[in-house]
Amino acid sequence: MRQPGGRVRVAVLISGAGSNMAALIDAGQAADAPYEVVLVLSNDPEAGGLAVARAKGVATAAVDHRPFGKDRAAHEAAIQSELETAGTEVVALAGYMRLLTPFLVGAWEGRMLNIHPSLLPKYPGLDTHARALTAGDAEAGCTVHLVTEGVDEGPILDQQAVPIVPGDTPATLAQRVLNAEHTLYPRALADFCRARIRSL
Ligand code: GRF
Repeated sequence: MRQPGGRVRVAVLISGAGSNMAALIDAGQAADAPYEVVLVLSNDPEAGGLAVARAKGVATAAVDHRPFGKDRAAHEAAIQSELETAGTEVVALAGYMRLLTPFLVGAWEGRMLNIHPSLLPKYPGLDTHARALTAGDAEAGCTVHLVTEGVDEGPILDQQAVPIVPGDTPATLAQRVLNAEHTLYPRALADFCRARIRSL
């Protein structure tokens, strides 16, 4: 567990490349960071982000969802066990592509963050960049929010807008938003953890 005055222990859940996860780890390794990433966990043992995390000196775990079939509860129980073993205080979802059940959401109520590539409440769910372009929006962006049972519906903690420029495709816009995510998420998580340290 955390020592008095120590950093908040954060676990990051990923399913893929983990570029946000890498940004969170890097920021958490700064001398004055209010948190440290103590575990990176994936539902996909092949997720590229696991090797990235290990190279940065962070412990990793893979809890493959496939052997669990439709038994989401058992899969989440295995995840919860890994989180507890690591002494996790706060969970950050970063491109974690499994829908969570009320079990895991409830276990981490008020202590689980997610990043979503739109200016919520606009465009929850998938294909956010194509939807923003189709709508003719002047700007897009990303949102860090607390996780609740409704998908992409939890209280918003912070947002970053980026412009949409002529000629944008979903791919070019996605890259611009992703760059913004790498600044927004570490900032929002650090703010959240500072507030948590003050309140305990
Ligand atoms: C990001 O766009 C994030 O907003 C979304 O999934 C993507 C994950 O990318 N939830 P990465 O794995 O962090 O590179």
